[in-house]
Amino acid sequence: MMPGSESRYQAFLEGLARESLRRKLTEVSPVDARTIRVEGHDYVNLASNDYLALRFHRELIERAREWAERYGVGSGASRLVTGNVDLFARIEAKVAKLKGKPSALVMASGFQANAAILAALFDRTVLGAEPLVFADRLNHASMHFGCKAAGIREHRYRHGDAAHLTELLNQNQHDNRPKFILTESVFSMHGDVAPLTEIARLARAYDACLIVDDAHATGILGEGGRGLSDGADIVIGTFSKALGSFGAYVAGSATLRDYLINRCSGLIYSTALPPPVLGAIDAALDLIPSMDADRIHVARLAARFRAGAHALGYDTGASATQIVPVIAGAPEAALQLGERLRGAGFWATAIRPPTVPKGTARVRLAFTVAHSESDVDRLLEVMADAASPALATAPARAHPA
Ligand SMILES: Cc1ncc(COP(=O)(O)O)c(C=O)c1O
Repeated sequence: MMPGSESRYQAFLEGLARESLRRKLTEVSPVDARTIRVEGHDYVNLASNDYLALRFHRELIERAREWAERYGVGSGASRLVTGNVDLFARIEAKVAKLKGKPSALVMASGFQANAAILAALFDRTVLGAEPLVFADRLNHASMHFGCKAAGIREHRYRHGDAAHLTELLNQNQHDNRPKFILTESVFSMHGDVAPLTEIARLARAYDACLIVDDAHATGILGEGGRGLSDGADIVIGTFSKALGSFGAYVAGSATLRDYLINRCSGLIYSTALPPPVLGAIDAALDLIPSMDADRIHVARLAARFRAGAHALGYDTGASATQIVPVIAGAPEAALQLGERLRGAGFWATAIRPPTVPKGTARVRLAFTVAHSESDVDRLLEVMADAASPALATAPARAHPA
């Protein structure tokens, strides 16, 4: 019981419910990389970021087990105390190599990395002034959180709009405070790719440090799965999406690593990742470079779905990756489409404001190597039914996954 505040929280929740924006947790039971079981029914999982199905890969499971038995299931302390087990160095060397950077640092999670690293990098007491931070307005919540934690004002440019970024940089070109540009490579709720070549060129031209969150590209896009962050000065990413397990990294210069060890609260005041998780990360990093065939399979599935969905009149935004939103508009419409897909044995999540801009509620689909062309074709059949006004109001059919 929370005296006084309880009724306010309750009123807030009721307000959300009235706007179809109230969220709830659903209990799921994963069957394998393709299928989840919910309340006794099996569904094809179209809402997982496990793009390469690595969370069920034997080698990840084996190395997690091996390292748990050898090192224990917990690390016992923060990295600066006694949690820096000798497994970190080998993982960080692999990450630095994958990202083509001199060094890397493993962190606890992607959210925590963005929240704590950006707060440390934008610290005005270290920089001597509040930095100028130019950020894509649709950046992930954790990036906005990091900026807020630093107490800086973001100069937000229109999503993916290098011309608008240029305009903002021009307006500030005579301001000699340190400059940063902050963007995702692949946008998590949109599946589109930032104009990174142009943004990297602007960073050089305006002497700005480019920070790229490569969460949804690492492992699944780019040559050998290295992601799309080649032009970045600092790359942040996670092991929780295509790499199948958990944890995060930042890659950049040796000075950056050393600075974060000394200044990043999320590293200093948090227990080091557990050895079994480190085992899964280590095995995933070994597998990633040789998974071209899987990456091609996933890209083909997404392209097949987009072509079919467009032919049916659906809007998939600017998606060009394994993440494909089906934009419905109002929250109720997105919820309805999600329900419709579930009725046909596909699990997909409706994403509503504030996660996406108002009026663009959507069902976010994510294709993985566990899906097949026939999954995509059956999904399109269901969407063809849902697109027809007569059928859209008919009761949903139950299909096995
Ligand atoms: C772009 C981006 N950055 C960071 C995160 C957070 O990563 P994690 O799930 O490892 O906390 C996510 C996903 O949730 C994301 O989409």
